[in-house]
Amino acid sequence: MAKIYPSLLSANFGKIYEEVAAIEKAGADGLHFDVMDGHFVPNLSFGAPVLKWLKGQTKLELDCHLMVTEPRVLYADFAKAGAHRITIHVEACKNLEDELKAIRDLGMKAGLSVRPQTPFLDCEKYLKYIDLFLSMTVNPGFGGQALIPEALTKTTDMIAWLKKLGLREQIQVQVDGGINTDTAPKANAIGVDILVAGNAVFNGTDYKKNIDLLRR
Ligand code: DX5
Ligand code: ZN
Repeated sequence: MAKIYPSLLSANFGKIYEEVAAIEKAGADGLHFDVMDGHFVPNLSFGAPVLKWLKGQTKLELDCHLMVTEPRVLYADFAKAGAHRITIHVEACKNLEDELKAIRDLGMKAGLSVRPQTPFLDCEKYLKYIDLFLSMTVNPGFGGQALIPEALTKTTDMIAWLKKLGLREQIQVQVDGGINTDTAPKANAIGVDILVAGNAVFNGTDYKKNIDLLRR
């Protein structure tokens, strides 16, 4: 059964500590922290200064998804702020091998993400430098969008490919975008390890019920 990582992007930013405490109490497996620069994606969110204030407030794994161009300037601040993993986009930077090594050198896990239209084979050269593959199931930039079915088909092929390469045990597979009670069972059925969910978790007041429904 996949782990559930709520995306902070859909939380009420006016009471961010309470929101994080609430999802931890509700049984979340980690916290997904969506960082946007207004350039790689047409939206802005938050960065390491916000993460820093969450450090020590929660035991959840801090899973940072950097939707930014030139992410390298941010790694040291994120490491200091307590990030456990940084995921960058294959489309965002040129020297990915160096980027991924730089993340690991700072003691964090490294992830690589693809937009829905990007072939997973674009990640082939970098598999030995990553701990996680993030398959975007919406176009990155905004919460609350509908899952793109072709992206899930691509994720199925990607999982089969990792198995064939003998890498399935060492690289976790995560999907992000449009995960709800309709789509979560489909992602679970193809063997995804981590489901990121924003709106489906931070909806109403019963986060435990929302998370439990995604596990079914
Ligand atoms: C999109 C972000 C996602 C998104 C998930 O760019 O990476 O994490 O906020 O939100 P939902 O689950 O509402 O699609
Ligand atoms: Zn994300």
